[in-house]
Amino acid sequence: MYTTAFHKKNISDKTFLITGGAGFIGSNIVEYLLEHNAKKVVVLDNLATGFEENIKSFLSLSNFTFINGDICNSADCGKACKGVDYVFHQAALGSVPRSIQNPIATHNVNATGFLNMLIAARDAKVKRVVYASSSSVYGDSPVLPKVENQIGRQLSPYAVSKMTNELYGGIFSKTYNMEIIGLRYFNIFGPRQNPKGEYAAAIPLFIDALLNNRSPAINGDGNQTRDFTFVANAVQANIKAMFAGNINTEGDVYNIAVGERISLNQLTEILNRLVGSNITSVYKAERAGDVRDSLADISKAKTNLEYSPVIKIEEGLKYTLEWFKGNKIVV
Ligand SMILES: NC(=O)c1ccc[n+]([C@@H]2O[C@H](COP(=O)([O-])OP(=O)(O)OC[C@H]3O[C@@H](n4cnc5c(N)ncnc54)[C@H](O)[C@@H]3O)[C@@H](O)[C@H]2O)c1
Repeated sequence: MYTTAFHKKNISDKTFLITGGAGFIGSNIVEYLLEHNAKKVVVLDNLATGFEENIKSFLSLSNFTFINGDICNSADCGKACKGVDYVFHQAALGSVPRSIQNPIATHNVNATGFLNMLIAARDAKVKRVVYASSSSVYGDSPVLPKVENQIGRQLSPYAVSKMTNELYGGIFSKTYNMEIIGLRYFNIFGPRQNPKGEYAAAIPLFIDALLNNRSPAINGDGNQTRDFTFVANAVQANIKAMFAGNINTEGDVYNIAVGERISLNQLTEILNRLVGSNITSVYKAERAGDVRDSLADISKAKTNLEYSPVIKIEEGLKYTLEWFKGNKIVV
């Protein structure tokens, strides 16, 4: 779906590793790189929450390799990094509630797995690592919009695992002279985001409900706000962060969002309008560990990475709906 090029350098002589490449955001990065003729694209994924279906159309390509492996296993990380120029690290166990139910699993994958990947990337002398952090690191900070250098106390094991990534990113770049950049994603949504299971995110859950004539279930009063970000913007940020010159690559972090927020109630209103339905939501108890309001200041990414999130929330929702209906989309 990615016709617009976000990179200026030729990538047909470059090899990329995408950990978590069978997941939602990872498979979109893979799709971009393959559509723009990367020399080689390697995915390392153990399919814990990703799907072979997400990369099925790439499996027959000669410049694509899928390694069914685990970032908790150093040997798998080493094998995946061999001969790689650039690493997009997306593999993790997402979801705040999952991390509250099973903090050890979240820690093992998100913190120890991340460390394994940094060591493998260091030993393979990769040129740059761009990894997925999260807006959850802002925790209980009341400041809005969120600015990179003003964080609060994290509110969940998931948030702590992402904060750990940022701390290790900083230390590894300083200690081992590596180029490492973290992207704090704010509620990314779009094609291939999984609508099923107890840890599914709000937008795919709501779309799935409305398309099947069911009421969307909202945790809390629905007035909590989020800076919902279409996945093509996140892909753009990853590509631009990977190739940006003259920036601080010493463990630096960037907010990746649109810089606009809506409440969950507004979200269901928009979705109802786009679907052509009028289904009321049901309200459940608030979830532990959730932040109330979220809005990013994206000026740092705009200035340093030339990041420009051209697809706003409603346009992104239209694309996502089309994808859920089985239609092809082009951005
Ligand atoms: N989607 C969002 O709104 C959002 C927001 C903030 C941060 N993030 C982060 O972005 C990244 C991608 O998230 P996503 O939404 O695409 O989730 P996802 O679950 O679709 O993708 C994660 C991928 O990692 C893989 N994985 C999990 N454990 C692994 C392991 N031990 N070894 C190898 N692969 C493993 C999964 O199988 C999956 O394919 C994650 O790091 C997530 O924490 C996402």
